[in-house]
Amino acid sequence: MDEEVGPISGVSRPEWTSEDQFYISDKAKDLLVNYSGILDTNIRSYSVAVRDKAWKIFPYRCIGTFRFLDFSLIRNPAYGEILTRIKRGQKFLDIGCCLGSDIRALLYDGAPACNVFGLDIEAEFINLGYDLFVDEEKLARHHFRITSIFDQTITCPDGTLGDLAGNIDIAHCGAFLHLFEWDGQVRAIEKIISEILVQNPGCLLLGRQKGCKVPGTYNHSFREQKSYGHNETSFKAMWKEIGDRTGTDWKVDFTFEGDLIDGSGESSRLVILKSGSNTEGDRQVVQNFSFKAERVK
Ligand SMILES: C[S@@+](CC[C@H](N)C(=O)[O-])C[C@H]1O[C@@H](n2cnc3c(N)ncnc32)[C@H](O)[C@@H]1O
Repeated sequence: MDEEVGPISGVSRPEWTSEDQFYISDKAKDLLVNYSGILDTNIRSYSVAVRDKAWKIFPYRCIGTFRFLDFSLIRNPAYGEILTRIKRGQKFLDIGCCLGSDIRALLYDGAPACNVFGLDIEAEFINLGYDLFVDEEKLARHHFRITSIFDQTITCPDGTLGDLAGNIDIAHCGAFLHLFEWDGQVRAIEKIISEILVQNPGCLLLGRQKGCKVPGTYNHSFREQKSYGHNETSFKAMWKEIGDRTGTDWKVDFTFEGDLIDGSGESSRLVILKSGSNTEGDRQVVQNFSFKAERVK
Protein backbone atom coordinates (compact mmCIF):
# COMPACT_ATOMS: atom_id res chain seq x y z
CA MET A 1 0.00 0.00 0.00
CA ASP A 2 1.57 3.21 -1.10
CA GLU A 3 0.56 5.26 1.96
CA GLU A 4 2.19 2.96 4.41
CA VAL A 5 5.42 4.27 5.76
CA GLY A 6 8.15 2.09 7.14
CA PRO A 7 11.40 2.66 8.96
CA ILE A 8 13.87 4.70 6.95
CA SER A 9 17.58 4.85 7.32
CA GLY A 10 19.94 7.76 7.38
CA VAL A 11 17.57 10.26 8.95
CA SER A 12 19.44 12.78 11.02
CA ARG A 13 17.60 15.66 12.67
CA PRO A 14 19.81 16.50 15.66
CA GLU A 15 17.63 19.54 16.43
CA TRP A 16 14.71 17.15 17.01
CA THR A 17 16.55 14.50 18.96
CA SER A 18 18.73 16.35 21.44
CA GLU A 19 17.83 15.95 25.07
CA ASP A 20 17.25 19.74 25.13
CA GLN A 21 13.97 19.03 23.37
CA PHE A 22 12.71 17.45 26.57
CA TYR A 23 9.31 18.84 27.39
CA ILE A 24 6.55 17.41 29.51
CA SER A 25 3.17 18.97 30.18
CA ASP A 26 2.00 19.25 33.79
CA LYS A 27 -0.76 16.77 33.03
CA ALA A 28 1.64 14.16 31.67
CA LYS A 29 3.91 14.64 34.67
CA ASP A 30 1.00 14.11 37.06
CA LEU A 31 -0.02 11.03 35.12
CA LEU A 32 3.46 9.47 35.12
CA VAL A 33 3.73 10.02 38.88
CA ASN A 34 0.19 9.14 39.99
CA TYR A 35 -0.96 6.62 37.35
CA SER A 36 2.31 5.00 36.30
CA GLY A 37 4.06 5.28 39.67
CA ILE A 38 7.30 6.72 38.27
CA LEU A 39 9.33 8.80 40.70
CA ASP A 40 9.32 12.48 39.81
CA THR A 41 13.12 12.52 39.78
CA ASN A 42 13.27 9.67 37.25
CA ILE A 43 10.77 11.05 34.74
CA ARG A 44 13.27 12.81 32.52
CA SER A 45 15.75 9.94 32.12
CA TYR A 46 12.92 7.45 31.74
CA SER A 47 11.21 9.51 29.03
CA VAL A 48 14.44 10.17 27.15
CA ALA A 49 15.18 6.43 27.07
CA VAL A 50 11.71 5.67 25.66
CA ARG A 51 11.97 8.53 23.14
CA ASP A 52 15.34 7.27 21.89
CA LYS A 53 14.01 3.74 21.39
CA ALA A 54 10.88 5.03 19.63
CA TRP A 55 12.92 7.31 17.33
CA LYS A 56 14.83 4.25 16.13
CA ILE A 57 11.55 2.58 15.16
CA PHE A 58 10.43 5.55 13.10
CA PRO A 59 11.70 9.12 13.25
CA TYR A 60 8.45 11.02 13.63
CA ARG A 61 8.96 14.60 14.71
CA CYS A 62 6.36 14.13 17.46
CA ILE A 63 8.58 11.43 18.92
CA GLY A 64 11.86 13.35 18.68
CA THR A 65 10.31 16.41 20.29
CA PHE A 66 8.49 14.50 23.07
CA ARG A 67 5.01 15.42 21.85
CA PHE A 68 3.87 12.08 23.27
CA LEU A 69 4.21 13.81 26.67
CA ASP A 70 1.95 16.67 25.63
CA PHE A 71 -1.42 14.99 25.07
CA SER A 72 -3.17 16.29 21.98
CA LEU A 73 -6.70 14.97 22.45
CA ILE A 74 -7.24 16.94 25.67
CA ARG A 75 -6.79 20.16 23.68
CA ASN A 76 -9.63 19.31 21.30
CA PRO A 77 -12.60 21.56 22.15
CA ALA A 78 -14.76 18.39 22.17
CA TYR A 79 -12.66 16.64 24.86
CA GLY A 80 -15.18 17.13 27.69
CA GLU A 81 -17.99 15.81 25.51
CA ILE A 82 -16.13 12.68 24.44
CA LEU A 83 -14.97 11.92 27.97
CA THR A 84 -18.58 12.06 29.14
CA ARG A 85 -19.69 9.83 26.27
CA ILE A 86 -17.02 7.23 27.03
CA LYS A 87 -17.90 7.27 30.74
CA ARG A 88 -21.52 6.57 29.69
CA GLY A 89 -20.48 3.49 27.73
CA GLN A 90 -19.53 4.67 24.24
CA LYS A 91 -16.50 3.04 22.62
CA PHE A 92 -13.43 5.03 21.59
CA LEU A 93 -10.72 4.00 19.09
CA ASP A 94 -7.47 5.96 18.68
CA ILE A 95 -6.21 5.33 15.13
CA GLY A 96 -2.42 5.74 14.74
CA CYS A 97 -2.20 5.75 18.53
CA CYS A 98 1.61 5.31 18.64
CA LEU A 99 2.61 4.99 22.34
CA GLY A 100 -1.06 5.37 23.33
CA SER A 101 -0.59 8.66 25.19
CA ASP A 102 -4.08 10.01 24.46
CA ILE A 103 -5.60 6.75 25.64
CA ARG A 104 -3.74 7.04 28.96
CA ALA A 105 -4.94 10.65 29.34
CA LEU A 106 -8.52 9.42 28.97
CA LEU A 107 -7.99 6.66 31.54
CA TYR A 108 -6.38 9.12 33.97
CA ASP A 109 -9.42 11.36 33.57
CA GLY A 110 -11.75 8.52 34.53
CA ALA A 111 -12.68 6.83 31.25
CA PRO A 112 -13.35 3.12 31.89
CA ALA A 113 -10.65 0.98 30.26
CA CYS A 114 -13.30 -1.37 28.81
CA ASN A 115 -14.38 1.36 26.36
CA VAL A 116 -10.99 2.55 25.14
CA PHE A 117 -8.94 1.04 22.29
CA GLY A 118 -5.97 1.87 20.09
CA LEU A 119 -4.84 0.84 16.61
CA ASP A 120 -1.37 1.19 15.13
CA ILE A 121 0.66 -0.39 12.37
CA GLU A 122 3.73 -0.67 14.60
CA ALA A 123 3.67 -3.17 17.47
CA GLU A 124 6.88 -1.82 19.00
CA PHE A 125 5.22 1.55 19.68
CA ILE A 126 2.55 -0.24 21.71
CA ASN A 127 5.23 -2.11 23.68
CA LEU A 128 7.06 1.14 24.39
CA GLY A 129 3.77 2.66 25.55
CA TYR A 130 3.51 -0.09 28.16
CA ASP A 131 7.14 0.58 29.16
CA LEU A 132 6.40 4.28 29.57
CA PHE A 133 3.04 4.09 31.32
CA VAL A 134 3.62 0.86 33.31
CA ASP A 135 -0.04 -0.15 33.15
CA GLU A 136 -0.39 -3.64 31.73
CA GLU A 137 -2.58 -4.50 34.73
CA LYS A 138 -4.93 -1.59 34.04
CA LEU A 139 -5.11 -1.91 30.25
CA ALA A 140 -4.96 -5.38 28.75
CA ARG A 141 -3.08 -6.00 25.50
CA HIS A 142 -6.24 -6.71 23.50
CA HIS A 143 -7.09 -3.00 23.80
CA PHE A 144 -4.45 -2.42 21.15
CA ARG A 145 -4.84 -3.79 17.63
CA ILE A 146 -1.79 -3.94 15.37
CA THR A 147 -2.66 -3.38 11.73
CA SER A 148 -2.68 -0.85 8.93
CA ILE A 149 -5.89 1.11 8.58
CA PHE A 150 -5.68 0.23 4.87
CA ASP A 151 -5.62 -3.51 5.45
CA GLN A 152 -8.61 -4.96 3.59
CA THR A 153 -9.25 -7.64 6.18
CA ILE A 154 -9.14 -5.82 9.51
CA THR A 155 -12.88 -5.55 9.79
CA CYS A 156 -13.70 -9.12 8.70
CA PRO A 157 -15.26 -11.16 11.55
CA ASP A 158 -11.90 -12.79 12.35
CA GLY A 159 -9.84 -9.74 11.33
CA THR A 160 -7.73 -7.63 13.68
CA LEU A 161 -10.56 -5.36 14.74
CA GLY A 162 -13.02 -8.25 15.04
CA ASP A 163 -15.67 -7.34 17.63
CA LEU A 164 -14.83 -3.63 17.39
CA ALA A 165 -15.67 -3.34 13.68
CA GLY A 166 -18.84 -1.27 13.31
CA ASN A 167 -19.01 -0.77 17.09
CA ILE A 168 -16.90 2.33 17.64
CA ASP A 169 -18.82 5.49 18.59
CA ILE A 170 -15.84 7.85 18.61
CA ALA A 171 -12.75 7.50 16.39
CA HIS A 172 -9.72 9.72 16.90
CA CYS A 173 -6.90 10.49 14.44
CA GLY A 174 -4.12 12.50 16.11
CA ALA A 175 -1.28 13.54 13.77
CA PHE A 176 -2.34 10.66 11.54
CA LEU A 177 -4.31 11.70 8.46
CA HIS A 178 -1.65 14.26 7.56
CA LEU A 179 0.71 11.37 6.80
CA PHE A 180 -1.20 10.91 3.54
CA GLU A 181 -2.13 12.76 0.39
CA TRP A 182 -5.75 13.72 -0.35
CA ASP A 183 -6.67 10.28 -1.72
CA GLY A 184 -5.13 8.45 1.22
CA GLN A 185 -6.99 10.68 3.68
CA VAL A 186 -10.24 10.02 1.82
CA ARG A 187 -9.65 6.25 1.78
CA ALA A 188 -8.77 6.16 5.49
CA ILE A 189 -11.84 8.17 6.50
CA GLU A 190 -14.13 6.14 4.21
CA LYS A 191 -12.89 2.99 5.89
CA ILE A 192 -13.50 4.47 9.34
CA ILE A 193 -17.03 5.52 8.37
CA SER A 194 -18.09 2.36 6.57
CA GLU A 195 -16.41 -0.33 8.63
CA ILE A 196 -15.29 0.95 12.01
CA LEU A 197 -17.84 3.48 13.30
CA VAL A 198 -21.38 2.58 14.35
CA GLN A 199 -23.83 3.24 11.54
CA ASN A 200 -25.80 5.93 13.42
CA PRO A 201 -26.01 9.70 13.35
CA GLY A 202 -24.16 11.10 16.35
CA CYS A 203 -20.95 9.10 15.93
CA LEU A 204 -17.77 11.17 15.83
CA LEU A 205 -14.41 11.31 14.11
CA LEU A 206 -12.13 13.85 15.69
CA GLY A 207 -8.47 14.70 15.59
CA ARG A 208 -5.63 17.12 15.21
CA GLN A 209 -3.12 17.44 12.40
CA LYS A 210 -0.88 19.74 10.45
CA GLY A 211 -2.42 22.13 7.97
CA CYS A 212 -1.45 25.23 6.02
CA LYS A 213 -3.18 28.49 5.21
CA VAL A 214 -2.76 27.65 1.50
CA PRO A 215 -4.02 24.08 1.01
CA GLY A 216 -2.29 21.63 -1.30
CA THR A 217 0.06 18.69 -1.64
CA TYR A 218 3.30 19.39 0.14
CA ASN A 219 6.65 17.66 0.29
CA HIS A 220 7.41 16.23 3.66
CA SER A 221 10.00 18.31 5.47
CA PHE A 222 12.68 15.65 5.27
CA ARG A 223 11.25 12.41 3.90
CA GLU A 224 10.61 11.36 0.33
CA GLN A 225 6.92 11.61 0.98
CA LYS A 226 4.06 13.95 0.23
CA SER A 227 1.02 14.88 2.23
CA TYR A 228 -2.01 17.11 1.82
CA GLY A 229 -2.07 20.18 4.05
CA HIS A 230 -5.57 21.51 4.63
CA ASN A 231 -7.15 24.77 5.52
CA GLU A 232 -10.79 24.94 6.62
CA THR A 233 -12.15 25.19 3.06
CA SER A 234 -10.26 22.21 1.66
CA PHE A 235 -10.94 20.10 4.76
CA LYS A 236 -14.67 20.68 4.52
CA ALA A 237 -14.57 20.02 0.75
CA MET A 238 -12.87 16.68 1.46
CA TRP A 239 -15.63 15.77 3.92
CA LYS A 240 -18.27 16.70 1.34
CA GLU A 241 -16.58 14.32 -1.13
CA ILE A 242 -16.46 11.60 1.55
CA GLY A 243 -20.13 12.20 2.42
CA ASP A 244 -21.10 11.83 -1.24
CA ARG A 245 -19.08 8.64 -1.61
CA THR A 246 -20.48 7.04 1.55
CA GLY A 247 -24.05 8.37 1.42
CA THR A 248 -23.58 10.13 4.79
CA ASP A 249 -23.66 13.76 6.02
CA TRP A 250 -21.23 15.29 8.49
CA LYS A 251 -21.12 18.51 10.50
CA VAL A 252 -17.45 19.47 10.55
CA ASP A 253 -15.83 21.89 13.04
CA PHE A 254 -12.32 23.08 12.21
CA THR A 255 -10.04 25.20 14.43
CA PHE A 256 -6.53 26.38 13.56
CA GLU A 257 -4.45 26.48 16.72
CA GLY A 258 -2.09 29.34 15.91
CA ASP A 259 1.15 29.94 14.12
CA LEU A 260 3.53 27.52 15.74
CA ILE A 261 3.16 23.81 15.51
CA ASP A 262 3.93 23.08 19.12
CA GLY A 263 4.41 26.32 20.97
CA SER A 264 7.96 25.55 21.94
CA GLY A 265 9.52 28.51 20.17
CA GLU A 266 10.37 30.18 16.88
CA SER A 267 12.98 27.55 16.02
CA SER A 268 10.29 24.91 16.00
CA ARG A 269 8.56 26.38 12.96
CA LEU A 270 8.24 23.73 10.31
CA VAL A 271 8.27 25.08 6.78
CA ILE A 272 7.23 22.90 3.87
CA LEU A 273 7.27 23.37 0.13
CA LYS A 274 4.38 22.79 -2.22
CA SER A 275 4.93 19.63 -4.23
CA GLY A 276 6.44 20.26 -7.65
CA SER A 277 7.45 23.84 -6.84
CA ASN A 278 10.76 25.56 -6.23
CA THR A 279 9.21 28.94 -5.57
CA GLU A 280 9.88 30.61 -2.22
CA GLY A 281 6.29 31.87 -2.22
CA ASP A 282 5.06 28.28 -2.14
CA ARG A 283 6.65 27.70 1.22
CA GLN A 284 4.16 27.45 4.02
CA VAL A 285 4.45 27.43 7.78
CA VAL A 286 2.71 24.40 9.21
CA GLN A 287 -0.17 25.09 11.55
CA ASN A 288 -1.94 22.50 13.64
CA PHE A 289 -5.69 22.33 13.53
CA SER A 290 -8.24 20.38 15.56
CA PHE A 291 -11.37 18.97 14.02
CA LYS A 292 -14.57 17.29 15.03
CA ALA A 293 -16.81 15.64 12.45
CA GLU A 294 -20.21 14.47 13.69
CA ARG A 295 -22.44 12.29 11.56
CA VAL A 296 -25.80 13.97 11.06
CA LYS A 297 -27.31 11.57 8.51
C1 LIG B 1 2.88 10.86 13.81
S1 LIG B 1 2.38 9.48 14.75
C2 LIG B 1 1.01 10.13 15.67
C3 LIG B 1 0.95 9.64 17.06
C4 LIG B 1 -0.19 10.14 17.96
N1 LIG B 1 -1.50 9.76 17.47
C5 LIG B 1 -0.12 11.63 18.19
O1 LIG B 1 -1.15 12.30 18.11
O2 LIG B 1 0.97 12.14 18.52
C6 LIG B 1 1.56 8.50 13.50
C7 LIG B 1 1.23 7.10 13.96
O3 LIG B 1 0.48 6.44 12.93
C8 LIG B 1 0.95 5.12 12.77
N2 LIG B 1 0.66 4.70 11.40
C9 LIG B 1 1.27 5.06 10.24
N3 LIG B 1 0.69 4.51 9.19
C10 LIG B 1 -0.32 3.75 9.65
C11 LIG B 1 -1.31 2.93 9.04
N4 LIG B 1 -1.35 2.78 7.73
N5 LIG B 1 -2.24 2.32 9.84
C12 LIG B 1 -2.19 2.47 11.19
N6 LIG B 1 -1.28 3.23 11.83
C13 LIG B 1 -0.35 3.86 11.07
C14 LIG B 1 2.43 5.20 13.08
O4 LIG B 1 2.98 3.95 13.45
C15 LIG B 1 2.45 6.24 14.22
O5 LIG B 1 2.33 5.62 15.46
